[in-house]
Amino acid sequence: MAVDLLLGLQWGDEGKGKIVDVLTSNYDIIARFQGGPNAGHTLVFNGMKHVLHTIPSGIFHEKSTNLVGNGVVIDPVIFKKELDKLDTQNIDYKLSLIISRKAHLILPTHRLLDAASEAAKGKAKIGSTLKGIGPTYMDKTGRNGIRVGDLELDNWTEKYRALANKHQAMIDFYDVDLQYNLNELEDEFFAAVETLKSLAFIDSEAYLHNAQSEGKSILAEGAQGSLLDIDFGTYPFVTSSNTTAAGACTGLGVSPGSIKEVFGIFKAYTTRVGSGPFPTELFDEDGETMARVGHEFGATTGRPRRCGWLDLVALRYACQINGVTQLMMMKADVLSGFKTLKVCTSYRYKGQEINHLPYNIEPENVTPIYTEFHGWSEDLTQMDHASTLPEALMTYIDFLESELDIPIKIVSVGPDRKQTIFR
Ligand code: IMP
Repeated sequence: MAVDLLLGLQWGDEGKGKIVDVLTSNYDIIARFQGGPNAGHTLVFNGMKHVLHTIPSGIFHEKSTNLVGNGVVIDPVIFKKELDKLDTQNIDYKLSLIISRKAHLILPTHRLLDAASEAAKGKAKIGSTLKGIGPTYMDKTGRNGIRVGDLELDNWTEKYRALANKHQAMIDFYDVDLQYNLNELEDEFFAAVETLKSLAFIDSEAYLHNAQSEGKSILAEGAQGSLLDIDFGTYPFVTSSNTTAAGACTGLGVSPGSIKEVFGIFKAYTTRVGSGPFPTELFDEDGETMARVGHEFGATTGRPRRCGWLDLVALRYACQINGVTQLMMMKADVLSGFKTLKVCTSYRYKGQEINHLPYNIEPENVTPIYTEFHGWSEDLTQMDHASTLPEALMTYIDFLESELDIPIKIVSVGPDRKQTIFR
């Protein structure tokens, strides 16, 4: 049985959580493959909003197994808070949530290092979520990390102490004003580790391999977005993992040949949270309207998101790198009421018009060239069938499909599970 893959095609916050939740009933296993609690996957159903950070978005469905894959970095403290929330909602996760032994742990000092590194960068800061993601992946690739499987060893706390001591020296080296009480943070950490240990730790690559042999269906759930990929994103303003399709192979241990459908999720416009270039960013009333109507505030940090027109150059790039087979357009409802809509179809770059994403997309290098579309005024949020969508929206959709040569299979018209139109 094949593995399907679901990814964000922009700078994250495309609405992956909602779509995983919508699709979960088609799958036996939902598996997160990278990132950590920097993600904020929002799901809305039965009038309730749920935000998940590390736990896969299939957790609210009784029948699915939810795997935190080896490519994920786990902060036990945040993980425990997520579990506590599930407890208050009477979600029984004990048997349906499993964790790869090869996933790495975020230590309290990783979070402190993230904060120190960002503070030392001053104006050049990445705008990290400060969840310790970068330092944890640095320890992973530096071969110093502590993994979930280590928690089963008697001497893991010795390894912990050695690494935490090294981190403290590094924090001191940054020479920034950072207020913290490590004893308190460690008490919280070790208590949370005990909670984590109440869940099943597994050899996840073998588990997934067997599941495939048994004919089970698997959905790999990405976090962040393609333009935040450590290799292909807008470096250095990126996250520290491979958010693109290849990341699912390394982050789960599934082979490239086993991947079948690649679902690419994008917003009908563009948003970005944190620093870094954003060619179609708006600083006017249109941008403010998108932010207000779309409630564009980070699900993890609460920071306001920067908003702009859809960037087809960047979207095409993301589709190519990921091998997207089906597109899903989110938040179409937010564009209702705009008289004119713009889509960036090429860039002016060094005096030439280009339609690929160049090495450098800073504003001094790249000027977006737009194609304009008529807007629509209809409220989409109550619509439930593709045939009812306004003609102007269909023109917008047809244009994107023909430019990208990939079908748009879902149009989302609101945050609720039910506000999902299949085509
Ligand atoms: P980090 O992953 O916390 O180190 O943050 C690096 C960059 O990625 C920052 O610009 C963050 O705002 C951004 N980022 C990380 N996770 C997400 C996400 O889930 N959605 C949107 N942006 C994110």
